[in-house]
Amino acid sequence: MQRIGIAGIGNISGIYLENLSGMFGKRVKLTAVTDVLLDRAEKAAANYGLKPFESVEEMANSADVDMVLNITPPRNHFETALAVVKAGKHVYNEKPLCTKREDAVELLKTAAEKGVRVGGAPDTFLGAGIQTCRKLLDDGWIGTPVASTAVMMSRGPEHWHPSPEFFYKDGGGPMFDMGPYYLTAMVNLLGAVSKVSGSAKISTPTRTITNKHQYGEKINVEVPTHIAGVLDFTCGAVGTIVTSFDVYSHTLPFIEIYGTEGTLRVPDPNTFGGPVFVRRFHDEEWYKIPLLKSYPDNSRGLGITDMAEAIDANRPHRASAELAFHVLDIMHGIHDASASGRYYKVKSKCKRPAAL
Ligand SMILES: NC(=O)c1ccc[n+]([C@@H]2O[C@H](COP(=O)([O-])OP(=O)(O)OC[C@H]3O[C@@H](n4cnc5c(N)ncnc54)[C@H](O)[C@@H]3O)[C@@H](O)[C@H]2O)c1
Repeated sequence: MQRIGIAGIGNISGIYLENLSGMFGKRVKLTAVTDVLLDRAEKAAANYGLKPFESVEEMANSADVDMVLNITPPRNHFETALAVVKAGKHVYNEKPLCTKREDAVELLKTAAEKGVRVGGAPDTFLGAGIQTCRKLLDDGWIGTPVASTAVMMSRGPEHWHPSPEFFYKDGGGPMFDMGPYYLTAMVNLLGAVSKVSGSAKISTPTRTITNKHQYGEKINVEVPTHIAGVLDFTCGAVGTIVTSFDVYSHTLPFIEIYGTEGTLRVPDPNTFGGPVFVRRFHDEEWYKIPLLKSYPDNSRGLGITDMAEAIDANRPHRASAELAFHVLDIMHGIHDASASGRYYKVKSKCKRPAAL
């Protein structure tokens, strides 16, 4: 059984601590935690019976840790993950895999040299909702996919996140923050993307924080906050994706897939559940499809648990580096296309992960 240490005890750490010691506690063993703010690590360690470490290096080199869950902020993903693989341990990064493609390439090269695995969030595509969609597609319920849409538009996170600045700095923005959920779901459903185009812009140069911790403080916006992309899937479908922190309200669905024989409505890819709807060409209404039974609730940690079991069973893991890197390549490609005014031909390749 793989023993896991967690790096980064911030906003999202609670659900991982809970699930890895709870619902997945018989499949992986949580042993250690670290945070640059040591008191955070010490508190989590005391609450969950873990060993606190002063640094990622120290934790990764510990004999009690086989793999590290890297839930530091995106700008720290590369250096943290590199330290882990250099210590000869497996690493699973929260999204995005890294902020820069070249960092991800170096990380994966080092991991290959060291003979360790890299995995990447999100793992929501393994939940009951999107796995039900996958089964419907694979069973031919909507025929051959011809197109898809994905929409994540919100007013931005500065009214709720306790430290929202990173969302507006290099590696942040709505595409790099939320795009991984939508793109991972779409690649899981439709396969790899071969070329992309897009337009991206900064709508307002400063944002005002309205959370209770930093109320009234300003953030200088350094990355696009409204991004629209077009995706050519190798299967022939044409996808569109819009991610925005500049929209107060809208009425568009999360993801829809349009096939030769009907339409599939995919649930929020930032959740594990439904609802899933299908309307085939002869139907007069949408039908709500019962979900597959596994993982309908918040099961964050499922991806690293699958990875841990895959390591022990010597099989591929589903939330793979290949998938996370393909998604990173697509996200950068949309920004590159906007900056250059040309299509970006996606260089990375990716197979659909096995259905769960
Ligand atoms: N907040 C969410 O709702 C949410 C949801 C899903 C995924 N995520 C992802 O989870 C990751 C963390 O997000 P968050 O919201 O918890 O961020 P956060 O800023 O709340 O917490 C990050 C923690 O990492 C620590 N840290 C920073 N550098 C470190 C280092 N080098 N070594 C050890 N610890 C370090 C910080 O001190 C902090 O405690 C990000 O990749 C984000 O994209 C967040």
